Amino acid sequence: MPNPPLYVAPSLLACDFGRLHDEVRRAEAAGADWLHCDVMDGHFVDNISFGPAFVDAAAKVATVPLDVHLMVARPDHNFPRFVKSARNITVHVEAQHDVAKTLAAIRAAGCTCGLALRPATEFEDVVPFLDLIDLLLVMTVVPGFGGQPFMHETMPKVRAAAAARASLGLGFRIEVDGGITADTAPIAIAHGADTLVAGTSVFAAPDMPAAVRRIRGA
Ligand code: DX5
Ligand code: ZN
Repeated sequence: MPNPPLYVAPSLLACDFGRLHDEVRRAEAAGADWLHCDVMDGHFVDNISFGPAFVDAAAKVATVPLDVHLMVARPDHNFPRFVKSARNITVHVEAQHDVAKTLAAIRAAGCTCGLALRPATEFEDVVPFLDLIDLLLVMTVVPGFGGQPFMHETMPKVRAAAAARASLGLGFRIEVDGGITADTAPIAIAHGADTLVAGTSVFAAPDMPAAVRRIRGA
């Protein structure tokens, strides 16, 4: 199976929430392939970000797919509220749920499904689910907050994911999330990432189109 084309997914967590529609349009005009939505419940991670009403508001003007990253304790319980507006819904392997069942339920609801792992989680923990997913999200920071530095020690997991994908003949995307900049993106890409989430480095850039181009390596 050919590897998926490179996508850049700006994270709305870093946008100006008070100007959400303008920020969505600005990210799209800058070349966003997807828009990443970080949902945090204050339990699974120590931060509370936004919920389905915010994602629905973004979807009102977005023309690119919304990639929803659920950092919540019970993704099986919460994901249905995001189905209407999301193209992809990613859940964490460490959350409290029957992972295979949740992934199948997300697909049955009409979205693609992703599985995420924290920096401290071993790649082996996601291996049983690789043939059930459309995307593997290798966290490159401890989830919960934007603006943290990229953790280079997560790169062997990206490499392992790319190797497993090739040897199993699978086609899931390999997404990295956290600390992605023009300097760290080429490292993640070299290890096999094809989907790059970037919050701070894109939304805080003085020239957003240039920031997206540089992350893409163009
Ligand atoms: C962290 C989130 C990330 C975050 C990335 O918990 O999952 O998507 O928004 O932000 P930056 O690019 O600022 O590290
Ligand atoms: Zn995220």
